[in-house]
Amino acid sequence: MKLIRTENYAEMSLEAGKIILDKINNNPSLTLGLATGSTPKGVYDYLIQDHKSNGTSYKQVKSVNLDEYIGLPSKDPNSYHYFMRQNLFNHLDINEMHTHIPNGAVSDLEDECIRYEKLIKELGGIDLQILGIGQNGHIGFNEPGTSFSSRTHVVTLAQNTREANSRFFNTIDEVPTHALTMGIASILESKEILLLVSGERKAEALLKFMNGEISEDFPASALNYHQNVTVIADRDALKYI
Ligand code: PGA
Repeated sequence: MKLIRTENYAEMSLEAGKIILDKINNNPSLTLGLATGSTPKGVYDYLIQDHKSNGTSYKQVKSVNLDEYIGLPSKDPNSYHYFMRQNLFNHLDINEMHTHIPNGAVSDLEDECIRYEKLIKELGGIDLQILGIGQNGHIGFNEPGTSFSSRTHVVTLAQNTREANSRFFNTIDEVPTHALTMGIASILESKEILLLVSGERKAEALLKFMNGEISEDFPASALNYHQNVTVIADRDALKYI
């Protein structure tokens, strides 16, 4: 596992952005695994800025997102479909047909999980997966206790995840109770993983992760089984390391 230490959020975003651009330049039709939340926003801003200034093209790039809330239509400003359009896709020349996010608004969720796994396989797997980490160690929405052999599945969100995410909603009651997420086994099949960690509120999770103890109680620890993980963290997140 490689650790890149950065000073702050902006530098973390820049370092991650440079790695992603390098991959796209080497393989203009790669499949990116994307994440939502506060952590990757700065990276997306960097990619948008680069697209505008340098014309990096995403015409052949494919993307698959990690997760989506259940019960929010894609037009809902809190859905991850909306987040991705607002914060990335609308500002690039990526073909909307090449962007994929689990659909949490379908009636048959089991079928959706199967479809999503099949889709990732048909795309030839994920070349580079961007990940954040939850304060409880979740990756995607794989909460503590999730099997390391899990595939795309329905999850009940942990109360602390709903509390953490309630900052985007008017009240905690509006935060969905369930979500669809790629499983841990699905994530581990990515050829390369970039784990981004920023801010003091993630410091304890990062410490636990770097300690290297592997347990299903701490989902991010599954990344220890992967051969090509780069952690990019800022000074506040590295407080205990
Ligand atoms: P955040 O979420 O980027 O909004 O902190 C990360 C996560 O919960 O996985």
